[in-house]
Amino acid sequence: MARRRLMWAVLSFLVLSVLFWVSSIIISDKKESITRHISTLGQTASRKYVSSQIWKKGEGVFPIRKLGCSPQNNIVFIKTHKTASSTTSGIFDHYAYLNNLTVAVPPDGAPYMDRKELFRRDMVAETRDVGVGWKKEDGFNMLTAHARYHRPEMDAVVHNAKYITILRDPRAQFVSSFVFFNFVDRFERIFKSRGEKYPTVVEGFMKAPRENYQLMSHRQYSQVLWNQQMFDLGLDTAYFSNPDVIEETISRLDSELDFVMITEYYDESLLILKDILCWEMDDILYTQRLVRNSSNELEIDSYTKVAINQWNAADTRLYDYFNKTLWQRIAAYGTKFQDDLNTFRRKLAVTSSKKTGKHSRDTKKIIKRMKDRGILIR
Ligand SMILES: *[C@@H]1O[C@H](CO)[C@@H](O)[C@H](O)[C@H]1NC(C)=O
Ligand SMILES: *[C@@H]1O[C@H](CO)[C@@H](O)[C@H](O)[C@H]1NC(C)=O
Ligand SMILES: *[C@@H]1O[C@H](CO)[C@@H](O)[C@H](O)[C@H]1NC(C)=O
Repeated sequence: MARRRLMWAVLSFLVLSVLFWVSSIIISDKKESITRHISTLGQTASRKYVSSQIWKKGEGVFPIRKLGCSPQNNIVFIKTHKTASSTTSGIFDHYAYLNNLTVAVPPDGAPYMDRKELFRRDMVAETRDVGVGWKKEDGFNMLTAHARYHRPEMDAVVHNAKYITILRDPRAQFVSSFVFFNFVDRFERIFKSRGEKYPTVVEGFMKAPRENYQLMSHRQYSQVLWNQQMFDLGLDTAYFSNPDVIEETISRLDSELDFVMITEYYDESLLILKDILCWEMDDILYTQRLVRNSSNELEIDSYTKVAINQWNAADTRLYDYFNKTLWQRIAAYGTKFQDDLNTFRRKLAVTSSKKTGKHSRDTKKIIKRMKDRGILIR
């Protein structure tokens, strides 16, 4: 009797093992065929379509996306100035184009909503309710053009959005803005007329930043000379000398924004972004040469760099704060961060510009499609 029972036990164990072995082969076959199917499709859009189909139908034994998250389509990107933000907008617009999303754009193809005024919903190009598919009250999926952060008005245009921005070391960002917005020539003339001479014009500016800033305060882009990034994030210049308000603003931003990228750690930031948005690695590819190469900017000595930080105290505090939160997120990502980063960089190295976004190119295509659909009037 005991022998019989033992025999049965052994037999059932064997049968179960065989069953388990066979089913694992079937499952891994299925996984492979899914992977193969996807890789033959090539294009991100079709791949995404297929993978979300699989996911929806629940056929995929191995989900392609991280479990328990669905890709975020609604995004407000606060496009700060001279921070690699155009490359980042390009990533968002490329995604929007491939996934047939709507984007709030300024009228007449302008590159920004407004550089001075806080964002208002009436800055968005005029739209029309389309019988099928889209109504004004649905809002847009994305806002990626230059617009000063103004939460209630942005929420009205993009509903339930993830809010993302990017910050750059103010020492580099300040110099970059100074050069880009043509303040070099203006101050060279001023210094020359006063008979002053400096190794670099930024060094000259930093001898008396407040006075020099005042000289330009009537100019259209004067704000780029003082805490530009804090300004882009909505803080008025009246508070730039008020440390309490600056601290309050930073904590408010920390609670309101979903993620703050850091230009100096661009790839690291994108990897975290991918996680937050539940996107795939292919969605965050970009062409490296599009990130502005700053080697042709002015050489700044270390004394002047300290002066730039002191003058732009709000931006310096802002940057240090969010650089810390980035590294906290990287630590929380866990030990596979470095592996994922290496994988991402290997992909970047073989990424051609055709496969990535270019802000202006994709924006044009998105605008055309929204016009074709009847959403955009002009
Ligand atoms: C984009 O989406 C709209 C509405 O959802 C649809 O009518 C249109 O055909 C789509 N276009 C493409 C190119 O997929
Ligand atoms: C920037 O440009 C210089 C000169 O053109 C080049 O040597 C350097 O490798 C570039 N740096 C990056 C990060 O592309
Ligand atoms: C950003 O934070 C990291 C980690 O704390 C630090 O090593 C790095 O120097 C900071 N970067 C800048 C540019 O301040």
